[in-house]
Amino acid sequence: MKLGVNIDHIATLREARKTIYPDPVVGALLAEYAGCDSIVAHLREDRRHIKERDIILIRKAICIPFNLEMSTNKEIVAFACNLKPHKATLVPERRRELTTEGGLDLVTYYSKVKKVVDKLKREGIEVSIFIDPSKSQINRAKRLGINIIELNTGRYSESKSKKERKGRLAKIKEAAKYAKKEGFFVAGGHGLNYENVGEIARIREIEELNIGHAIISRGVFVGLVSAVEEMIEIIRKNRRLKT
Ligand code: PXP
Repeated sequence: MKLGVNIDHIATLREARKTIYPDPVVGALLAEYAGCDSIVAHLREDRRHIKERDIILIRKAICIPFNLEMSTNKEIVAFACNLKPHKATLVPERRRELTTEGGLDLVTYYSKVKKVVDKLKREGIEVSIFIDPSKSQINRAKRLGINIIELNTGRYSESKSKKERKGRLAKIKEAAKYAKKEGFFVAGGHGLNYENVGEIARIREIEELNIGHAIISRGVFVGLVSAVEEMIEIIRKNRRLKT
């Protein structure tokens, strides 16, 4: 199972004081050094954390793949076409949200998303779409002609009781199985932390996890390299368990 480390919140800390540190470029290099498989960053329309400068430098500095999270906004799409990340992950974006609140609704926004997917693909960029774990979303993703999806683990992560968590985990498992059977490379992410990642890591059909906030937060106390190493270890340990 691969781990993508999202470094957005290093920039959140920087922007809290509008300083030039901590630098997410340094964070990306440290996460790479610690053994993660890709670096993820979300260039939001409001540029509240990551800026173009960060992404351009990270793309040049790292040797592992770079995954750009982005909306379907015209200016951001043009930026992505120029940058040519290894992968672009399309996510929904709302100005006033604290973080991405759910998957991209492919039933409602199919034609808009299709145009962006085709444009990115023409530039040779691999496209992934962040969707809620449901068959109807997966079926739409298939019609888009993409072969990577990222299942939203946000609702599972926010569960308020054991029963709720069990139900939401079951939905993710079912969606992952279905997507894999339909030929997708299945990733997962959002809200995962050192406590709740285990059950997701045990889902065989999920082959990549993208994790940000929890890793950067732990990095404040133990250092980013240790925080990434610890997450890799937990994922590996759970992956070895029989399901
Ligand atoms: N995957 C996607 C598609 C996301 O939008 C985000 C948040 O930027 C993440 C993963 C990482 O989420 P978190 O910071 O909660 O680990």
